[in-house]
Amino acid sequence: MLGDFRYHNPTKLYFGRGAIVHLREELSNYGKKIQLIYGGGSVKKNGIYDQVVSILRECGKEIVEDGGVMPNPTTEKLAEGIKIAGENGVDLLLAVGGGSVCDYAKAVAASVSCTEDPWKKYYIDQEQPTCEVLPVACVLTMVGTGSEMNGGSVITNPAEKLKIGHVFGSDVMPKFTILDPTFTYTVPKRQMVAGIYDAFNHICEQYFSGEDDNVSDYLSEGLMRSIIASSRKALADPLDYEARSNIMWAATWALNTLLSRGKDTDWEVHMLGQAVGAHTDATHGMTLAAVSLPYYRHILPYGLKKFRRFAVEVWGVKESGSDEEIALRGLEALENWMKELGLAMHISELGVTEDMIEKIADSTLVEEGGYKVLTREEIVKILRESL
Ligand code: NZQ
Ligand code: ZN
Repeated sequence: MLGDFRYHNPTKLYFGRGAIVHLREELSNYGKKIQLIYGGGSVKKNGIYDQVVSILRECGKEIVEDGGVMPNPTTEKLAEGIKIAGENGVDLLLAVGGGSVCDYAKAVAASVSCTEDPWKKYYIDQEQPTCEVLPVACVLTMVGTGSEMNGGSVITNPAEKLKIGHVFGSDVMPKFTILDPTFTYTVPKRQMVAGIYDAFNHICEQYFSGEDDNVSDYLSEGLMRSIIASSRKALADPLDYEARSNIMWAATWALNTLLSRGKDTDWEVHMLGQAVGAHTDATHGMTLAAVSLPYYRHILPYGLKKFRRFAVEVWGVKESGSDEEIALRGLEALENWMKELGLAMHISELGVTEDMIEKIADSTLVEEGGYKVLTREEIVKILRESL
C-alpha cells in the first residue's frame, strides 16, 4: 500500500430491525427545533414519517417541515431549505429518505450561515465551509449512495445543466444515521437495482486505480462478491431480510471513506453519469449503468492487470487464455449480471439522443486518478457507444 492518509469517520450508526428507537436517545443531544427533511412522499405512504414524527413529539421537539426534496436535488430547492432553516433557527436537520434527501440536508447545513452563493462556493469552486455548520442526522430509506456515512453532497443546477458533487468534511457528515433494512422494503424494484449498481460502482471507482498491492482492493473484492450474491436473492425476494441487510451494510462501506484510503480513485463513470443526469434528470444508478461498459472496455488496455484480477477474483473467471481474454470475460460477466438486474444498458433508454452528445460531453468533468485520463474525443466516443 503506497498512499499516506488520515482516517476519521465520525458518523455513529444504529443498524437493524427497529433501530429507529435509537432516535429517541440521540435527540436528547440537540435543541428543540428539528427541520424534518424528506422527499416526494414515499415516507408518508409507508409509515416511516409517522414513526419519526411520533418520536419527535414524544421528545417534545418542535417540527419544522421541509418535504418535497426531489431525486437529484436542485439549487432552487436548496435555496428553499436554507431559507426554512434560517428563518426558523433550527437546531438539527433530520433527513428521512435516500441519498437525495441526505445530500440536500448536508448542503443546507453548510449554507445556512454562509453569506456566499453555495453553488459557487461548494460546487463550482469546491471550497470547504468557513461558517457555522448545522448538525445533520439521517434515517435512511433507500440504499446505494453511501450518503448516510460520508460527506458527499450532489446538487443539480438545471439552468447550467450541471450536476456536481462536493465532498464535505467531518463537520458536515451525519452525526448519526439509523439503518433499518426493513425501511427499504417499499423501494420500487427499479430504484432498488439502481441503488445496488450505484454501490457496486462506488467500489469499482476506487478499485480501478493504482497498481500497488493495497488492502482496499481485497476489501473491495469481498464487498463486490457480497453485493452480487445478495442482489440475486433480493431480486428473487425483495423481502429477504438477510439479502436486504447485506446490501445496506455493503453499500455503506462502499462509500464511507474507508476503501479510498491509500488509493488514487477514478470516479470517471460518475462524471459521465452525472453529466447524463444533468441533461435528463435520470435515476443516478441507471446513468452509471448505461455508461459503465463502454468506459471500462475503453480503459481496459491501460489497466489490464486490474481488469484481469477483477475477472478472476470477483467473477470467478477461469485463468485460461491471454490476460486480455480473461479481463474481457470479467466484463462480460459484469454485463450479464447488470442485465439480470434489469439496469439501463444504454443512455438512449434515459432520454439521450444523438444530438445531445456534444452538450453532455461539455458537462462531463475529467478525473485524473484512473487508468486513463480521458480526452474530449474519448468522452464523445464513450457517450456514442453508450447510446
Ligand atoms: O421522494 P420519495 O417519494 O421519497 O421517493 C424516493 C425517490 O423517488 C424513492 N424512495 C426512497 N426511499 C423509499 C422510496 N420509495 C419507496 N420506499 C422507500 N423506502 O426513491 C427515489 C429515489 O430516491 P433518491 O434519494 O433520489 O435515491 P438515491 O438514494 O439513489 O440518491 C440519489 C442522489 O444521491 C446522489 C446522486 O447523484 C443523486 O442526486 N449521490 C450521492 C452520493 C454521496 N452522497 O456520496 C454519491 C452517489 O454517487 C450519488 O451521486
Ligand atoms: Zn454513485
